[in-house]
Amino acid sequence: MSALTAEAEQAARAPRRAGPVIAVASGKGGVGKTALTLALARAFSQRKARTLVVDADLGMANIDVQLGLNPPGDLGAVVAGRLTLAEAVAPACGGSQKAGGFDVIAGPSGSASLAGLDIGAVGRLAAGLAAASMGYDRTLIDLAAGAERANIRLAVAADDVLVVINDEPTSLTDAYAFVKTLRLRDEGASPFVVVNNAPDKAAAQSAYAMFARTCESFLGFRPLLAGIIRRDPHVPGAIRAQTALDQRFPGTDAAKDASVLARALERGVEPG
Ligand SMILES: Nc1ncnc2c1ncn2[C@@H]1O[C@H](COP(=O)(O)OP(=O)(O)O)[C@@H](O)[C@H]1O
Ligand SMILES: [Mg+2]
Repeated sequence: MSALTAEAEQAARAPRRAGPVIAVASGKGGVGKTALTLALARAFSQRKARTLVVDADLGMANIDVQLGLNPPGDLGAVVAGRLTLAEAVAPACGGSQKAGGFDVIAGPSGSASLAGLDIGAVGRLAAGLAAASMGYDRTLIDLAAGAERANIRLAVAADDVLVVINDEPTSLTDAYAFVKTLRLRDEGASPFVVVNNAPDKAAAQSAYAMFARTCESFLGFRPLLAGIIRRDPHVPGAIRAQTALDQRFPGTDAAKDASVLARALERGVEPG
């Protein structure tokens, strides 16, 4: 093996840390992007990171509802120039100054108007989010499902992307389409995979293995597994109660898994 190859091999085996801005993506809806975003925000905040959550699910924004917030404005108002991102911030669980709390920029509720934003406006939005993220240690962007252009644009602007899958075949094919489109737009993109709603570890590992194999065969790229979040009946319960998961159910499985995931993203994800 040449020195160059050895170096490349070593780099490929080194743990990879996530950057400060993390976009949470998926191929299809309903896989748990929003649940994961909120659980991760709690976990990062409990680890003393000042955290911002941005609801960029431009068609189906609902974080403010999931947390029972009353935001002063939303991304729609920001894009229309009526508010700055800073003016649109709503504190959740005590706000980003408090351990366990974080700030939220709500999505444009009740309208799909932003879904059809022209690419120039999406570019300005991405730049605005990058500027807003400077005031925080961690920014989590809850994206819409799918490989729509605006979505890919926001994913490319983030430091890292988490692609959420579960063990249903449709989640895998749609997630593959997302990763393919992302890498067409940004060759160097190396999204992490999170398996959510896992009935058990074996099912999660096999969903990941199938996904990674498909990416490797067709894209020449093997995404790393950043974490597994167990299926947890308290997740829907917390949403119904409009609270953060581990506020309502301290120490519940999905919150513990989100905490392990946050630590892995901070320290570096090990190639499996
Ligand atoms: N780990 C989990 N365990 C149990 N239910 C989950 C889990 N993650 C998500 N869910 C449920 O799945 C549904 C969709 O989750 P959501 O976060 O809204 O998905 P998305 O944002 O990807 O559309 C919600 O009803 C949520 O309660
Ligand atoms: Mg969602």
